[in-house]
Amino acid sequence: MGLEKKRKTHCKGRGKGEVNVESSFGICDLPNAILQLIITSLPTKEAIRTSILSKRWQHLWKDISKIELEEGKPEERQQFIHFVTRLLVACNCSNLKKFSLSCNVAKDANLVNEWLCGFLNPKIEELSLQFEEIQEPLIFPDQLFTCATLTKFRLDMQHVFKLPSSIHFQCLQTLNLSNIVFPDSSSIQQLFFGCPALEVLTLIDCNWKNVQAVCIYSPLLQRVYIRENEDDILDEDDDDDIDGLNVQIPPECYWDNDNTWEIASGNFTFRLLKMLSNMEKLSMSETSIMILSRTTSLLEQLPLLLFCNLAELALDPVSSIELSYATLLTILRNSPLLQVLKFQGRLSLAKDEANCIFDPLPVCFSTTLKTIEINGITGKKDEFRAIKILLQAASVLDKLCLRCYWFSFDLDDKHIGLKRSKELY
Ligand SMILES: *[C@@H]1O[C@H](CO)[C@@H](O)[C@H](O)[C@H]1NC(C)=O
Ligand SMILES: *[C@@H]1O[C@H](CO)[C@@H](O)[C@H](O)[C@H]1NC(C)=O
Ligand SMILES: *[C@@H]1O[C@H](CO)[C@@H](O)[C@H](O)[C@H]1NC(C)=O
Repeated sequence: MGLEKKRKTHCKGRGKGEVNVESSFGICDLPNAILQLIITSLPTKEAIRTSILSKRWQHLWKDISKIELEEGKPEERQQFIHFVTRLLVACNCSNLKKFSLSCNVAKDANLVNEWLCGFLNPKIEELSLQFEEIQEPLIFPDQLFTCATLTKFRLDMQHVFKLPSSIHFQCLQTLNLSNIVFPDSSSIQQLFFGCPALEVLTLIDCNWKNVQAVCIYSPLLQRVYIRENEDDILDEDDDDDIDGLNVQIPPECYWDNDNTWEIASGNFTFRLLKMLSNMEKLSMSETSIMILSRTTSLLEQLPLLLFCNLAELALDPVSSIELSYATLLTILRNSPLLQVLKFQGRLSLAKDEANCIFDPLPVCFSTTLKTIEINGITGKKDEFRAIKILLQAASVLDKLCLRCYWFSFDLDDKHIGLKRSKELY
């Protein structure tokens, strides 16, 4: 008997309680619970297609625990709407643990509200929503905001985020909000107070214009990433809109800010830095460092105690970072406990700046600075000059870690890159 045939017989027999120990073990021998796990791991459309396999499979997919829906081309919108609406009717949503929806809303806000109401059950664990072309506020089901199982929530929509008066995400660890317009100070405050388990907070291009003051605090917070809406910053009337933002982060938290645009971001970086205290780890983009360096008046106003507990500083240059940047030197000179200094890319030092770091020498260089990492060196003179100065200055250094990558030499030709990095080694 061929393998295929044997399996088929076996699958058929299963329902009648026959157990054929000698026959091969096929996928049909697995219990429903395991089959459902397998089906769940498929993309949603393929999961549904398993219903045609056999009578037993016909309903299995309906209990899947993960659904991912992403609208495709505009001309296929009606099909998408039809598909989602039918899915909502057919599927047993009380088993859903992960739900993701990405679509245009346009004139169909009511429909999307219905979908949200239908798909979101009180046991949902991971939720990712991305909406575009919103014309009127979407209404999220109230029960979502008191969901005790939700651990990850991502929301990306360029519109007001209407929040209910009662918010309590007992288990929410990761919150990622993009392009959101916060409605007012009190509801956004409710949101942050309602996330006692928050570990990673990401706020990308959110609009704070309606917010006078808000405090972000969570005892377990490990990483905060804020990128400010460029239009907002450029809008003179809203110049103060982030002034009221107060981020109280636990000392171990990794603070990350990345302002990739230039104009006015010195002020923004300054305002963000001023809100922090007791940081142990700080990561800054090249732009933040550079812009702040150009505005010495701001730099002089930075509270000196800001960096008093800083143990790790990471700098993220797009091209290369000048060791003589005033911001960098100011931070180094005010970080008496710094242990690790990381350059995530090229580092350079102009000839006439050779002694900048010694004048005066940051205290940490002769007391606590044990590790320097430079990732992405290319062996240029200005680079070696910077490394040499760092080595001279860091008298208690234990470890210097240099990395070079072939693509730092030639992005198109791997051979050239590999040859150059070999030479450098
Ligand atoms: C949906 O799933 C739940 C939990 O597995 C079950 O108790 C319920 O009967 C199912 N509902 C339907 C309509 O199949
Ligand atoms: C947060 O969501 C945005 C898009 O909405 C995405 O680009 C970004 O990678 C997400 N960040 C994290 C930390 O998940
Ligand atoms: C930055 O802040 C300074 C002082 O607070 C102010 O004079 C300046 O106009 C601000 N620059 C921009 C571009 O907002």
